[in-house]
Amino acid sequence: MEAPWIAVAAPETIASGKFIKVTVAKRNYLIANVNGEFYAVEDNCSHEDYPLSYGCLNGTEIKCSLHGSRFSLATGAPLNDPAETPICTYRVKVNEGQVWLDPTAVMQ
Ligand code: FES
Repeated sequence: MEAPWIAVAAPETIASGKFIKVTVAKRNYLIANVNGEFYAVEDNCSHEDYPLSYGCLNGTEIKCSLHGSRFSLATGAPLNDPAETPICTYRVKVNEGQVWLDPTAVMQ
């Protein structure tokens, strides 16, 4: 079955080392650009349901601003306490001048 790809932004609107928050069907996602590689994760810390979009990006890691857990953008894995549960990651691609999101969570 064809993935439900959704255009979420023009790639030039997400500078390298930055992310944007997008909402698709009432769900919030972070779309990050790391040296031209795009990543998509849910905008929700698995520790206490806090928006990761309040946090900061460091390479391929997003750090929650509430208690400091860091998550891999590639796998969603928590990299330090207090979070213990991965966040959801999503496929993302650039095509025809758009960044496309597949809002079907990737199972690790
Ligand atoms: S809410 Fe993110 S680390 Fe606690």
